[in-house]
Amino acid sequence: MSLSVIILAAGRGMRMHSAKPKVLHLLAGKPLLEHVILQAQTLSPTEIFCVVGEGREQVMESLKAYPVRWIHQEKQLGTGHAVLQVLPHLNPAYPVLILYGDVPLISSDTLKQLLNTLVNHELSLLVAQLENVEGLGRIVRDKQGKIQRIVEERDATNEEKKIKEINTGVLAASFSALQHWLPKVTTQNNQHEYYLPDVINLAVAAGVAVITHTALHADEILGVNTRAQLAHLERVYQKKRIENLMAQGISFTDPARCDVRGEVIAEPDVLIESNVLFEGQVSLGEGTVIGPNNHIRDSRIGKNVVIKANCVIEEAEIADGCVIGPFSRIRPGTELKENVHIGSFVEVKKSKIGKGTKANHLTYLGDADIGEEVIIGAGTITCNYDGVDKHETRIKDRAFIGSNTALVAPVEVGQDAVIGAGSVITKDAPAAQLTLARSRQTTIAHWQKPKKRKKICVE
Ligand code: UD1
Ligand code: CA
Repeated sequence: MSLSVIILAAGRGMRMHSAKPKVLHLLAGKPLLEHVILQAQTLSPTEIFCVVGEGREQVMESLKAYPVRWIHQEKQLGTGHAVLQVLPHLNPAYPVLILYGDVPLISSDTLKQLLNTLVNHELSLLVAQLENVEGLGRIVRDKQGKIQRIVEERDATNEEKKIKEINTGVLAASFSALQHWLPKVTTQNNQHEYYLPDVINLAVAAGVAVITHTALHADEILGVNTRAQLAHLERVYQKKRIENLMAQGISFTDPARCDVRGEVIAEPDVLIESNVLFEGQVSLGEGTVIGPNNHIRDSRIGKNVVIKANCVIEEAEIADGCVIGPFSRIRPGTELKENVHIGSFVEVKKSKIGKGTKANHLTYLGDADIGEEVIIGAGTITCNYDGVDKHETRIKDRAFIGSNTALVAPVEVGQDAVIGAGSVITKDAPAAQLTLARSRQTTIAHWQKPKKRKKICVE
């Protein structure tokens, strides 16, 4: 689309009481500004400008992956002044869409509708009807319902403050309208700032027809000025995500106690218990159950998997029928084949584990390549690090590792081998044989228990 997008993000966000620029505060794990950039990108604009001010190094660094032209507004003299900084950089041939870095839930459908109304108009304003209008600019209309002006709450009369129709801040304009009206905006208002809404007020006063478009959902135009508003928006966002998942056939014991920070793709009949956090890209196969208090990031989980309570799973692939937890930690680079069981206090890192293998208690498996139907006894440790390098442990099919075994890598345990409990294995253990590496048990003959001496009391 031939379109210039301007995102205003230079404000200090004083009401957040934070050292961090407001637009970098996170909503669903992503900076507020990133949400706005992503929505802008769905319109395929020619260019995206972002006005930044205090803390701009931090903002630019955080979002450097995006094709944005950063415009510096040295002093935050108001929303009108912010747009004025971009004016010399705009292509006069393209219409302009103005978005706010602190209004993150705006939908691309609403933006497309707003831009469509611009076809026959010079200026089109996105408005909304809200119950709680505190702090927002109000839309004043005449008897015919035509917009007369926008008045900021601080400049409004008591009558005007009662108006429930508000300025969302989002605005579409022809380049020429902005070029004509923006330089005429003054600071004659309560905050002595250059108000962007004054562009509308000046145009209306000059007899230019301004069209308003009402946002599809009242929630999408909510802005973040305070931490309470940020927390509220997080809930709004999460509620919508979980509702979408439920519509796809996913059950939640309590929809209010699951958070999605990223993308969850789930097949039908997945059940998600309370207090689950998903991050990044997560996929869940049919019939899988995610128990309470689980944290799952960037992982592919197959069908009919059971993740019991209190696990942390990151960058892992878990095949159909696996049973994990409670209290398991699955770290990046782990690949579990079908029907693997990983139990309590077991940590697995960068390891491949074959079908039907079980490590049910108190174990560390790092840099290991483990075959099928292997039994890993409680307390088994792969000693993968010698202080300088990491080394691999290989355990072949159907091997049995007795409890409390240290496998000092690099080392290999052969097929059907058995390792006696308490062994420290430093050399390869041959297939189908019992290997032990521990001191032998002895019993001392004629040993006598020492007798307690009598205590001497000194008065
Ligand atoms: C603004 C609107 C108000 C509207 C509300 C919707 C004005 C004067 N008021 O009020 O009518 O109802 O948004 O959320 O526009 N910014 C800059 N440079 C500046 C000042 C602000 O880039 O000099 C940016 C801020 O970073 C923010 C956005 O503009 O992203 C809005 O600024 P803010 O101060 O939050 O305006 P509001 O008081 O919310
Ligand atoms: Ca705001």
